[in-house]
Amino acid sequence: MPLFPKPAEGSWTEHYPDLGTGPVSYEDSISPDVYERERDAIFSRTWLNVGRVEQLRRVGSYFTKEIDAARTSIVVVRSSADEVRAFFNICRHRGNKLVWSDYPGEETSGVCRQFTCKYHGWRYNLEGECTFVQQEEEFFDLDKQDYGLAPVQTDVWEGFIFVNLDPTNTTPLREYLGTFAKGLEGYPFHQLTQVHRYRADVGSNWKLFIDAFTEFYHAPVLHAKQSVADQSQKLTTMGYEALAYEIDGPHGMVSTWTGTGVPPKDMRHVKPIEQKARSGLFGPWDAPDIGLDELPPALNPAGHKAWGLDSFLFFPNFMLLIWKPNWVITYHYWPTSYNTHIFEGTCYFAPPKNARERLAQELAVVTFKEYALQDGNTLEATQSMLESRTPVKAFPLNDQEILLRHLHKTAQRYVREHEQQDSRTPAAV
Ligand code: FES
Ligand SMILES: [Fe+2]
Repeated sequence: MPLFPKPAEGSWTEHYPDLGTGPVSYEDSISPDVYERERDAIFSRTWLNVGRVEQLRRVGSYFTKEIDAARTSIVVVRSSADEVRAFFNICRHRGNKLVWSDYPGEETSGVCRQFTCKYHGWRYNLEGECTFVQQEEEFFDLDKQDYGLAPVQTDVWEGFIFVNLDPTNTTPLREYLGTFAKGLEGYPFHQLTQVHRYRADVGSNWKLFIDAFTEFYHAPVLHAKQSVADQSQKLTTMGYEALAYEIDGPHGMVSTWTGTGVPPKDMRHVKPIEQKARSGLFGPWDAPDIGLDELPPALNPAGHKAWGLDSFLFFPNFMLLIWKPNWVITYHYWPTSYNTHIFEGTCYFAPPKNARERLAQELAVVTFKEYALQDGNTLEATQSMLESRTPVKAFPLNDQEILLRHLHKTAQRYVREHEQQDSRTPAAV
């Protein structure tokens, strides 16, 4: 099999004629108006991943999620019935944010038996029912049963907790996640409970950072210094191609080689610390046993022996990277304005069995941070120049940037379709 297989005919992009091949405008990443429309059409209506079930270990475990793009906050809790439930984080008395710790804008987590509002002390149980109203007799015909917390549609796929803030959206989660998710089912995500998290405020539109993680065209250049000098030179000369790209509805994936499993006989292109720790960006070299006898069908679609990583973007903002040596990274991009967002990068490993394994994981985690900083470094520079709007209006994207075309087109389609639907619905008076 060639190192860089191409589709049987034409290019990856030309397999999807709707994507076009011409230069694209980035107006959708610099327009406050477009962002406001994306908030309504995308973040208030699609299934969003907000965490994993391991964050809710026992009955009463909860965490809050600020979803600024949908102008709301939610609380996700393991209920008395041992189910994952979510509620809008608003007290039914006078609208105070119900669950927060020191600062109302900051996310929090913990374990409790009930939620008590800080303002006048109304209480809600873990099923969201209102159980206590301070001086209840002073209200007028108030029935507590009518004042439970407002529920949020919630479902769990392979341990990933999703919410949908639109009560009228009836598309089931699995149907929305499509064939990639179906083809990943059975992957032992639940074994990867050693978790390291990063979170950063980034000065760019949310789509620009996704763009940076759905192409590896930049890798030999932007990340050149991560390799030893002669290897870096070789990579820059050779350039980069992925093994496969696939698109399924609003979602996309790229499958790639990584060089994982460095042959011990040729360590020249591996940094000394990586040789010692037997680890690096691509994870610990020695894959732990996580009970994965064979890869689920969605992984390594090209069936390539040099396969090392598949990266799935579940629209709009959840990216799932599955690495050959049995570990996983997730990325989330939470917009906070048209030109800012919060980036979350989370690394998941099998629990280390000894100090050496722990060190190997730590090296992968800090190397990931270094790469992510390099990726993030270009974003504010790009955002600021895109916002200058002149004199350049459109940008050529190559075949490896197919998922960028797809992401931007998908976001625009959601806005268009939502607004068309809205225009058919008589406005409420
Ligand atoms: S606003 Fe929550 S008890 Fe009054
Ligand atoms: Fe990168």
